[in-house]
Amino acid sequence: VLALENIEEMREVVGLWRREGARVGLVPTMGALHDGHLSLVEAALRENERVMVSIFVNPTQFAPGEDYARYPRDTAADLEKLEAAGCHAAFVPTAETMFPDGFDTHVEVGALSRVLIGAHRPTHFRGVATVCAKLFHLVQPDTAYFGQKDYQQVVILKKMVADLNFPVGVRMAPIARSADGLALSSRNRYLSPAQRAEATALYRGLNTALAQFRAGERDPVRLTATVASEIAAQAPGFEIAYVVLADPHTLAPVEVAAPGQVLLVEVYLDAVRLYDNVILS
Ligand code: PAF
Repeated sequence: VLALENIEEMREVVGLWRREGARVGLVPTMGALHDGHLSLVEAALRENERVMVSIFVNPTQFAPGEDYARYPRDTAADLEKLEAAGCHAAFVPTAETMFPDGFDTHVEVGALSRVLIGAHRPTHFRGVATVCAKLFHLVQPDTAYFGQKDYQQVVILKKMVADLNFPVGVRMAPIARSADGLALSSRNRYLSPAQRAEATALYRGLNTALAQFRAGERDPVRLTATVASEIAAQAPGFEIAYVVLADPHTLAPVEVAAPGQVLLVEVYLDAVRLYDNVILS
């Protein structure tokens, strides 16, 4: 796979693809690639002749004291995985390339960035929106691909693209899970084996609530209580940040459960935070 570090080279490659008439898919990542990322690459390959993956641990989405310094980085292994997946090129810029000294322009998607994860990470989504705005301008893909695990991130990026008229489609691909149901995440490697086992309670709780919904339960209080009690019983080490049944576009809590709404949960243990969600169907 072509690994492109600088902007001019990357633009030259995409320009060539464009002249060949190729559709271009972009998969923005922070590296430490797992099967969830590779499922995004697969989705991009199905819909585009050429696929670019960006690998960039974005400093602007980490607050002081978060895990920016220890976030896993393994570009050599990432490039091997991308090669095997059939990805055409990787954009691997340095922090200096993306955010040179004096960088001082930000994209902020309002209300959606202040709820749920944004309630305790007030600058996180500003960093995500800003880096994605840059990546969309740099690569100019037809479509960009994100994982449903970061549901709030996808809703925010869709809003940014709509509000600012970016000519980019934003697609969300289903959550990739390990055999025991745990949503794949580069941060799962922070978990001890015991915590990792407890963490499967998130998906079990969500799944039980989904089964209740399918059996006719329409009360969000009962559905969210199911998730919370599964976590309290099976994962007592984790604190619950929230369990919410939310409108899929506004992320506001709903009063009556209905198909298409999203049941979101976040838990934390010291600095480790885990997220998961299911869409009611
Ligand atoms: O989901 C991620 O890995 C990051 O938030 C993203 C979209 C690559 C922006 O840095």
